[in-house]
Amino acid sequence: MENKKFYITTPIYYPSANFHIGHCYTTIVCDAIARFKRLAGYDVFYLTGTDEHGQKIQKKAEEAGVTPKEYVDEIVANAKDLWKSLGISYDKFIRTTDEEHVECVQKIFKQLYDQGDIYKGEYKGLYCTPCESFWTESQLVDGKCPDCGREVNEVSEEAYFLKLSNYADRLIKYYDEHPDFIEPLSRKNEMINNFIKPGLEDLCVSRTSFDWGIPVTFDDKHVVYVWLDALSNYISALGYKSDDETLFNKYWPADVHVVGKEIVRFHVIIWPIMLMALGIELPKKVFGHGWLVINGGKISKSLGNYKDPREYIESYGVDPIRYYALREVPFGSDGVFSEEALINRTNADLVNNLGNLVNRTISMTKKYFEGMVNNPRVNEEIDNDLIASTERLFEAVPAKVDELKVGEALQEIFDVLKKANKYIDDTTPWILAKDETKQDRLRTVLYNLLETIRICSVYLQAFIPETAEKIFRQLNTDDKEFESAKIFGLLKDGTVLNEPEHLFDRIEIKED
Ligand code: MSP
Repeated sequence: MENKKFYITTPIYYPSANFHIGHCYTTIVCDAIARFKRLAGYDVFYLTGTDEHGQKIQKKAEEAGVTPKEYVDEIVANAKDLWKSLGISYDKFIRTTDEEHVECVQKIFKQLYDQGDIYKGEYKGLYCTPCESFWTESQLVDGKCPDCGREVNEVSEEAYFLKLSNYADRLIKYYDEHPDFIEPLSRKNEMINNFIKPGLEDLCVSRTSFDWGIPVTFDDKHVVYVWLDALSNYISALGYKSDDETLFNKYWPADVHVVGKEIVRFHVIIWPIMLMALGIELPKKVFGHGWLVINGGKISKSLGNYKDPREYIESYGVDPIRYYALREVPFGSDGVFSEEALINRTNADLVNNLGNLVNRTISMTKKYFEGMVNNPRVNEEIDNDLIASTERLFEAVPAKVDELKVGEALQEIFDVLKKANKYIDDTTPWILAKDETKQDRLRTVLYNLLETIRICSVYLQAFIPETAEKIFRQLNTDDKEFESAKIFGLLKDGTVLNEPEHLFDRIEIKED
């Protein structure tokens, strides 16, 4: 097979925020895409991690009476634990405090300085500490930070600047020549009209007022601006500028950086300019997704409207959470998170549709044929539609995943499962079972159902892996490879199914 690579990243998360379901959302979606591409034969590198420097973290650590490193270490351990419980299959977890990352950022800064893209000047401006963002007066909304609505402070200090202004024309040209670079498209127009057209001001890329950051090697009272530090993670993680650039040569450029909509601008303005200045290829795509909101507000630690995601996992199980995150909100739009919607989704799709289908089919095969699979091919017209729909998934599901429409990919699969449930109602196996002359027809009907379940489960491995594994166990088959989903009819005659295993509990909504 041709060696196809796929490099996907989440943003690196600030460890000061306890992780909430909004963070899980991005990470689950990227995980499903990464798993799917692995399944489809790609050599995948899935990167996530933590963005650990900056004034905000220094302050939090001081408040907690520990060093910044001690402070982040504890949170990072906690984050890794959460990702494990959600089945996140990252290939690398980068921390911006990792030595290799620090060295890489220092080399990048020095190179940009040596070649004149970074110069020394004086910074006077408005800074939002929680967002680690500089703003101009005209960008403020009611005098406050346009992202989080909090106070900004005036700061004035000697600083280094990155010459963004030199690159504005090249950047717009790049956007024009690469129409897929920023998605969804609406975010591209917003960038051009709100940020680039009004004129790109040079960016302040060092700070002297605190020291929890990466020191500038040739002027060590400066630490590198946290966004320059953070963005570099996407290449430092691959060993860029280290003694071993094998991973960098293999995986760069990234196929997609998935980021929340409020940080698209860093990824499509500052990051491409850094890369242009370094003479490196740009990522193929930056995808800006929407937020999960509760009662109209973004879920966030500071708004106090979040629950620890582990509570949801404990109450509902990991796959219902994954399924909900992937299915409920079209990727790109904002979506309202509610436990009620999570419960309804679980009951309708996982319990009624998938769970019932698997349970009915396995139980009937056990009851009528002691679990023995056999396909005498007594086919009828009604079978063709189910078989064709199942086979069609082989084109449809990867196409949706390639467009990052994971919810629609799942919808395709669940439409087939729904069809299979209807097929049971239409073929009425319990009536066939009573007729001695219809036993071969009954075997064929059950076979078609089992094979539909197997093929759907091949895809489901990427989205709800625990459940897919449970189904394969019951089917007692090793035919779970991607290619095996292309051919309807691989489940072998003579296979003996294992005992039915309960997949999902119906969740009752508790009345207060
Ligand atoms: N550290 C920066 C990213 C640096 S990338 C070089 C950062 N961190 S963050 O922890 O604040 O946010 C990380 C990601 O989580 C962002 O993409 C953000 O949009 C996403 N989300 C945070 N809250 C969210 C929701 N309520 N809903 C969906 N995504 C959310 O920004």
